[in-house]
Amino acid sequence: MARIEVENIKPHLGGIVHVEKADLCEPEVVHECQNALEDRGVLVFPRMNLTDREQLAFTDCMGERVNYTRAVPGSSAAEPDVYRVTLDEEINDSPEYVLGTYFWHIDGVTTNMPLPKATLLTARKVSARGGQTEFANTYAAYEHLPDWEKAEIEGLRALHTVESSLRPVFEEPTEEDRKRWSSMAVKMEHPVVWTHASGRRSLLVGSHAERIVGMPLPDGRAILYRLAEWAGQPDFRYTHQWQEGDLVIWDNCGVMHRVYPYPATSGRTMHRTTIAGTEKIA
Ligand code: OGA
Ligand code: MN
Repeated sequence: MARIEVENIKPHLGGIVHVEKADLCEPEVVHECQNALEDRGVLVFPRMNLTDREQLAFTDCMGERVNYTRAVPGSSAAEPDVYRVTLDEEINDSPEYVLGTYFWHIDGVTTNMPLPKATLLTARKVSARGGQTEFANTYAAYEHLPDWEKAEIEGLRALHTVESSLRPVFEEPTEEDRKRWSSMAVKMEHPVVWTHASGRRSLLVGSHAERIVGMPLPDGRAILYRLAEWAGQPDFRYTHQWQEGDLVIWDNCGVMHRVYPYPATSGRTMHRTTIAGTEKIA
C-alpha cells in the first residue's frame, strides 16, 4: 500500500507532500494529490529529483498534459511537452515571457482553451539570490472580501491580453513585438469572479487583466490592481524557497503566482509541465 502524507504549510494554502517517488502514480496517491491540490492550492514535494520522463509520467497520471507555449523559445527538443523556464541566453533568446513571471499571473489565461488546471515545476538549477516563487490563494481572497466589495465586483468581466502582462517588462514595445504577441495568444474575456462547477468562487485577476469591460480604464484598472493586491497579501500567500530537485504543483484555477526577480547569470532553470483544464470559466 502506497503511503502519502500531506502536511499543511499555512492556514489558507500550501501542503508538503511526503511520498516515495516510486509511488507517485499509485491510484490512491494520485487521488490524494488531486484532493490536496483542490484543498491546499499548492503542493510541495521536497527534493523529488524527477527526470523529464518521470515528471511527464506524473503529469499524465494527474490529468491530460498540454503545452501552450510551444511557440515560445524554451521547449525542450528531446521532450517537447517540457518547457524550460530560464533566462539563460543559451536556451532562451527571447526572455520576455519569463520576465513576465515576476508579476502576479495565472498561466494560460490568454489562450483559447479551458484554463490549464495545474502547473508542475521541477527546480533543475536554483539561483543563489532571488527566484523564490510566490503563490496566492484566489479562493480565500474572494471569500474574505468584505460584502460591499463582493457586491461591487459581482458580474464584472475583464479583458486579458499578453500585451498587458508584458507592459511592466518593456520600456516601449515595438510594432513587431505587438504583432508577435498577437500571433501567439488571443484576447480573452473572463469574469472577475469565477464560479467553479464545485460551487466555490475565486478571483480571476493578475497581470494579463488589461481592463474591465465597459468601465473607464482607470476605474477598471484600479479595481483589478486592488484585487490582485488583496489576493497577494501575506495571509493568502506562500513563498517557496527552492531547493534543487523540488517539485511544486499548483492549482492554476485557484492560485495566482509570481517569481522574485533573479539574475539571468544564475542559470536558474525550472522544467515545467502543464495539466489541461476541463472546466469552462463561468
Ligand atoms: C511559469 C512561471 C514560475 C517560476 O513558468 O509559468 O510562472 O518560478 N514560473 O519560474
Ligand atoms: Mn506562470
